Amino acid sequence: MNEIINFLKKRRSVTAKAMNDGQVSLDHLNEILECGLRVPDHGALNPWKITVIQGEAKKRIGNEILAKEYKLSNPEASNDDLDYEKNRLNRAAIVIVVLCTPVFHPKIPKWEMELSSGAVCSNLLIAAQSLGYAAQWLTEWYSYNQNVLKEFGGDPKTDKIAGFIYIGNKQKEPVERRRPIKNKIISFIDK
Ligand SMILES: Cc1cc2nc3c(=O)[nH]c(=O)nc-3n(C[C@H](O)[C@H](O)[C@H](O)COP(=O)(O)O)c2cc1C
Repeated sequence: MNEIINFLKKRRSVTAKAMNDGQVSLDHLNEILECGLRVPDHGALNPWKITVIQGEAKKRIGNEILAKEYKLSNPEASNDDLDYEKNRLNRAAIVIVVLCTPVFHPKIPKWEMELSSGAVCSNLLIAAQSLGYAAQWLTEWYSYNQNVLKEFGGDPKTDKIAGFIYIGNKQKEPVERRRPIKNKIISFIDK
């Protein structure tokens, strides 16, 4: 069987909770990012913004932004909850944030720019998984927080976070999850 099809048919995400932070080599990171940019994009508008959070930035953003914003929305948060937020990004070696930054176009709707941003996330995820990394696409609560969006250069009036792609090392191979029942979703029209 074709190697790519075989991989796509078996590919699985490893949850951020289950991964080790480990390391992503620079060569691999560059390959993952290159794949992320090679997506269908109507009108070649490039309506995305990508930020790689790595090294000390994971801790800084956890401390200065995630824990702070979490506390503002959850005044009753315990110290354990806040510690979790401080360390949230440290679950992975690197976390790649993808923003949808739509531009006005007389013919191309914003929806298509949002779909293209999802394709960026998918390609980043699949590329990382194909290199053997543990990877997961998450939005969690902070994707919907305006100050988090601003931290990554987004404008709350127009932009949205499409996802955080967590990439780390596998502790073990993931088990299969329930998959869609084909004939409930797919139909064929012949005439
Ligand atoms: C846009 C988007 C956001 C997601 N956000 C979350 C999330 O916040 N929390 C979560 O547990 N899973 C989330 N998921 C699901 C996981 O990334 C993933 O789909 C699931 O773990 C199984 O993936 P797999 O089919 O690649 O194995 C999200 C998926 C998508 C497409």
